[in-house]
Amino acid sequence: MTRFGLPLMAGCLMVASAWTSPVGAADAGQPDAAALAASESQLPNPALMAPFKEQQPVILVVRDPRKPEAWAGLKKYWNPGPVESVDPSTGEKVTRQGVFIKVPLGLNTAPSIPAENPLTVEKVMLGKKLYFDPILSANNKVSCASCHNPQLGYTDQLVTSTGIFDQKGGMNAPTVFNSSFSPLQFWNGRAASLEEQAQGPPQNPSEMHDGKGNAWFKAVERLKASPEYVKSFARVFGTSPTRDAVAKAIAAYERLVLTGNSIVDRAELAMRERVEEEGGGKLEPNAADFAKVLNAAYAAKDDTALAALNLAGAKDEGKVKGVAASLASGRSLFYGKARCNSCHVGDNYSDGAFHNLGVGAKDGVLPASESGRYGAQPTGHKDPSLVGAYKTPTLRQLLSTAPYMHDGKEATLEAVVELYNRGGNLNPHLDGKMRDFDAEREVAKSGKSAVVPRKLLLTDQEKNDLVLFMRGLQGESCDSILTTP
Ligand code: HEC
Ligand code: HEC
Repeated sequence: MTRFGLPLMAGCLMVASAWTSPVGAADAGQPDAAALAASESQLPNPALMAPFKEQQPVILVVRDPRKPEAWAGLKKYWNPGPVESVDPSTGEKVTRQGVFIKVPLGLNTAPSIPAENPLTVEKVMLGKKLYFDPILSANNKVSCASCHNPQLGYTDQLVTSTGIFDQKGGMNAPTVFNSSFSPLQFWNGRAASLEEQAQGPPQNPSEMHDGKGNAWFKAVERLKASPEYVKSFARVFGTSPTRDAVAKAIAAYERLVLTGNSIVDRAELAMRERVEEEGGGKLEPNAADFAKVLNAAYAAKDDTALAALNLAGAKDEGKVKGVAASLASGRSLFYGKARCNSCHVGDNYSDGAFHNLGVGAKDGVLPASESGRYGAQPTGHKDPSLVGAYKTPTLRQLLSTAPYMHDGKEATLEAVVELYNRGGNLNPHLDGKMRDFDAEREVAKSGKSAVVPRKLLLTDQEKNDLVLFMRGLQGESCDSILTTP
């Protein structure tokens, strides 16, 4: 806690210093309580805000399988168009210009939007500006995009991130893609929302803060010195720049950073259409469904989707049948023998929960620093079964987000599959879903007790198929309106 009783939240990088208050001996430039409160939040002055009819709502359109026309009618990700609304202050009907987002195929729900932070075009654009702007860092050199770069799958593609003054952090930067679907943010879930998460890095001394004074107060002061920012915050929030508004704007931007429409998503749709046509059948894409969408990708010259599967141009068109068979096999393994779907489940391939796979464990021992979710749970709510447990990440965009795992220690998808094939890394807190209970019962008969990792016993061909299936989850990025500074 700072001396104003405000909890200091750790930023992204998990380092010891992130948990200790940077406000201390060198307390220069510390604001008084009133100034601090004003920089944290303010009540909006409606007179400063853009008039209701000028506020452009952002509407997320998800494909509704019963009537897909509205979604299919949207030509691109980002579609400006008229929106009928009722002005809440006058009750009058107005037609406003808004933007309809075509939520990518495969995402069957839209991320939920907090009532206090509705999406508008101006807010998203302010959030985008802040996201790319090093102004939130003390030395004006580090931005969110430094570590979550849209050109690098919204990561930095490093084992662990490099923050302010070239400091190395201890964690691999997860992608921002589809992070709005996570019920909790960070590998150990210590932030409850994107808004809460966004407040971490600017005050983390290993990411964006120089450790001198109150990081947020100073960041807000820098924003207030920019007439352009002052104008934007006034129009969007009816306030001068505040920490509350910065967090909201960045979160609004992140909620539109979506990805989907992978070959696997397309095959799922092809399968559903086939089953409907045939009047029944197993809801499982087969090799023919995969071949159909691969051929369609060839016809549409969708080189990105094809390249993800190592299909390089027309010369590889003859390989479609083999690749389709391998994808179908990989999918069956994912949902069957390899049971990846016991944790990587749903549209975003994550249960949003925390599991100990033994990442970071050596010779059966988990270092104390790997406390995982357990370490982040508040006192009085600690669940010992979550020692060393980290959040199940999405499996979309893996080709852009290597290396893998919370410590970034797995360099390739092949290495990840090997980890699972041996049942994870042995340690006393290995997740129940990773354990071989039959083998453990056998051990118990001899009066001993032991954790036994459950081996998957995959053949080389099966490992290849599983990797190819994950490559097939590489999807389309959101609109360049969002990905370019
Ligand atoms: C110095 C590199 C760095 C900077 C700068 C940085 N991040 Fe991160 N970010 C990380 C790392 C590393 C993690 C994972 C840390 C952890 O989980 O403990 C992370 C986690 C996240 C997550 C959680 C994703 C998930 O799946 O749990 C989001 C969202 C995020 N950052 C957004 C931002 C935003 C917004 C900013 C700018 C305000 C930002 N980051 C600045 C490195 C960085
Ligand atoms: C018991 C739950 C569970 C099961 C089963 C599971 N995963 Fe995971 N997966 C996780 C968790 C948790 C992580 C992150 C672990 C960490 O970093 O400590 C992860 C990480 C990954 C990653 C790294 C992603 C990244 O961005 O770093 C890949 C790839 C992956 N899993 C693929 C698979 C495959 C393939 C299978 C099936 C063979 C599988 N998983 C089975 C929970 C699971």
